[in-house]
Amino acid sequence: MEQNIYILAIESSCDDTGAAVLCNEKVLSNVVAQQEIHEAYGGVIPELASRAHQQNIVPVVDVALKKAGINKNQLHAIAFTQGPGLMGSLLVGNSFAKSLSLSLNIPLIAVHHMHAHIFAHFIEEEGFEKPEFPFLALTISGGHTQIVQVNSHSDLIVLGETTDDAVGEAFDKTAKTLGFPYPGGPLIDRHAQNGNPKAFGFTKPKVPNLNFSFSGLKTQILYFIQKETQKNPDFIKENLDDLCASVQYTIIEILMDKLKKAVEETGIQKIAIGGGVSANSGIRKALQDADTKYGWKTFIPKFEYTTDNAAMIGIVGYLKYQAGIFSDTEVVSQARMEF
Ligand code: KG4
Ligand code: ZN
Repeated sequence: MEQNIYILAIESSCDDTGAAVLCNEKVLSNVVAQQEIHEAYGGVIPELASRAHQQNIVPVVDVALKKAGINKNQLHAIAFTQGPGLMGSLLVGNSFAKSLSLSLNIPLIAVHHMHAHIFAHFIEEEGFEKPEFPFLALTISGGHTQIVQVNSHSDLIVLGETTDDAVGEAFDKTAKTLGFPYPGGPLIDRHAQNGNPKAFGFTKPKVPNLNFSFSGLKTQILYFIQKETQKNPDFIKENLDDLCASVQYTIIEILMDKLKKAVEETGIQKIAIGGGVSANSGIRKALQDADTKYGWKTFIPKFEYTTDNAAMIGIVGYLKYQAGIFSDTEVVSQARMEF
């Protein structure tokens, strides 16, 4: 009989402190402490994030172990996010994972945050299918926008990525202009559901190959709203749903255009999405429609595995454990990290 491997995973790349316990490919617990402190500032303040991780990490790990019904002496390995992310945040998870692995005398496994968003699809979940290799991954979050060709667990090729802002930033910065608290992406999504996506037209950037650009769109929206608000101070209030729907529509068009191009170029029609922005209901719908329209097969992860979480770190931890890929205590956090 296959041995049960228990892995504790830690995620602390940005503003969420996460801990999860996995038994092989199954998630026994997945705990996230969100930091509300950043809302007031309209964005993540690195120093505050780091301090909050330090306060949260011990209780979050404690709850994850308790919920999983696992004693720390039963663990086989500790996985943690090595990067990319905010240095002060990454360091908290790194030093915690190192100390625990040393004290328990079990292996340490360093995980790439963006690999984790992709391999979240390999978590065993009832009703969710795992994509077969090769597939294309569209990873869309507050820090990244990438199309990756995934040939195997270890062979990943970045086909295109953003040259400036990430798609999540386009959502959050527009949301800030509209007066929403941070992170405003989910609020745009909610309002867009009642609005007309064709009410306002925004231009899509012309970026070569499979790369993306979102900073021009953000500026265009800002200037448009400033101009309209000068004419009518209640412009935002009167058009909120339509503004959200139009912005979201443009962002989805940009993403779908590049995905279509990637499918054409690679001949791969299996698409797996990941990252916080894949929680967006418009993007989910556009992908589901593409299945019928173009004959694609899209994979959308369970909601709790789309935004930053430790379960996705744990599944990569398990895959690396099986492949015998471990880190020593010299391993350093990386704010920017090669794919
Ligand atoms: O993956 P994630 O939790 O953290 C990063 O690694 O960045 O992604 C967070 C991003 C934020 O920009 C947030 O506004 C966005 O995901 N987001 C959404 C939605 N839910 C989260 N954006 C649009 N629609 C949503 N429903
Ligand atoms: Zn992320």
